[in-house]
Amino acid sequence: MRVLLIGSGGREHALTKAFLASPRLTTLTVAPGNPGIAHDAPTAPLTSLAEVQAWLATHPTDLVVIGPEAPLAAGWSDAIRALGIPVFGASQSAARLESSKGFAKQVMQRVAVPTAAFRVFHDTAEASAFVRQSGQAWVVKADGLAAGKGVIVAESMSETLDAIAQLAALPAGERILLEERLYGPEVSLIALSDGQTVLALPSARDHKRIFDGDEGPNTGGMGAIAPLNSITQPVAQQLAEIVMQPVIAMLAAHQTPFVGALYAGLMLTEHGPKVIEFNARFGDPETQVILPLCDGDVLLALYAAATQALTPATLGWRTGAAACVVLSSAGYPDAPRSGDVITIDPTKIPANGTILHAGTRRDGNQLVTAGGRVLNAVGYGADVVSALRTAYATVDAVQFAGMHYRLDIGQTELV
Ligand code: AMP
Ligand code: GLY
Repeated sequence: MRVLLIGSGGREHALTKAFLASPRLTTLTVAPGNPGIAHDAPTAPLTSLAEVQAWLATHPTDLVVIGPEAPLAAGWSDAIRALGIPVFGASQSAARLESSKGFAKQVMQRVAVPTAAFRVFHDTAEASAFVRQSGQAWVVKADGLAAGKGVIVAESMSETLDAIAQLAALPAGERILLEERLYGPEVSLIALSDGQTVLALPSARDHKRIFDGDEGPNTGGMGAIAPLNSITQPVAQQLAEIVMQPVIAMLAAHQTPFVGALYAGLMLTEHGPKVIEFNARFGDPETQVILPLCDGDVLLALYAAATQALTPATLGWRTGAAACVVLSSAGYPDAPRSGDVITIDPTKIPANGTILHAGTRRDGNQLVTAGGRVLNAVGYGADVVSALRTAYATVDAVQFAGMHYRLDIGQTELV
């Protein structure tokens, strides 16, 4: 199978490694990729849809896999499918589950998927007046894509008002959502869908705040573990049937089937699981810990989803656990510094440990930081304790000025 993978983060490096393990792979090209990906597979410097289309015109391709949200929201899947090539990645219409929080809320309401109560506002003055009248704090969200910066969990009424002003100033903040605050442990549930069938992948937990103990600003994600003790594989599939299947069915009924990875950010509240958000793609860093737990051919599974042939038996699951520690650059998330020289000592990487690249760049013969989340240290083991031990031992193989990482990844699962 000839495959084009679009993206350049740790998620795409994890997908690259999974695809390379497939006996069915003949060629893999990653566009644009990163230096770690380029070490493993050919890359092509394609960054626009026009460039991708031109490349596909001269490179016969059996499957295109789109990793990040921006090309999905921009309709790349639709344009590539129109060339007759199977695509694993949501159409522009289906990707509105992520690109418009208001759309996601409407769909959830229509098909009775449990989620936080909410109101949508087109006007900040109206939103502020509503908050003053309510006399309470709200979770404030910008409607559109905001690269993880579109949500503020306000602690008070005045923080809520400040949050409205702050988010309304973003390009994504043309519409503002006010949402009831939920309490409980968070779960990332990711499933493959071919438009009809939903196949849940192992449950995972991200760690979104920059500092230990969930302190500091939100980030794209500072580390992950999978699976969660309380969400075994049958429970994950049950959850997917509850929170995803009705959404998938509704999108199919509206001739906008969801083909790709559907991600539900769930909160396990005292009133049951509720959806905090949908993403129309694999999570990052969740993918880095989910793929090592898949038993079977991940590439064929994505092909099955892209060609409406997914079945419950498409993938099996390995026992054990995986952990990922994100190494971030100085200044992340507010003002990540680039250009710090990275050294990796391969002799220090333990068996079952892997380093994945995210925000790195080649500068002459040096590897330097080029983004907020720089590298991922991933460990696999018989249980969470050993996966974490391996992931943190892998961290020790890396050095760069300003390197930051959380020391408490996975602690919630060690009770
Ligand atoms: P999101 O970008 O929607 O994933 O939101 C980022 C983070 O904000 C989530 O992972 C939650 O920790 C928090 N959050 C979002 N919505 C709510 C809510 N309704 N109640 C409590 N926390 C929330
Ligand atoms: N790790 C959170 C996300 O991928 O959105």
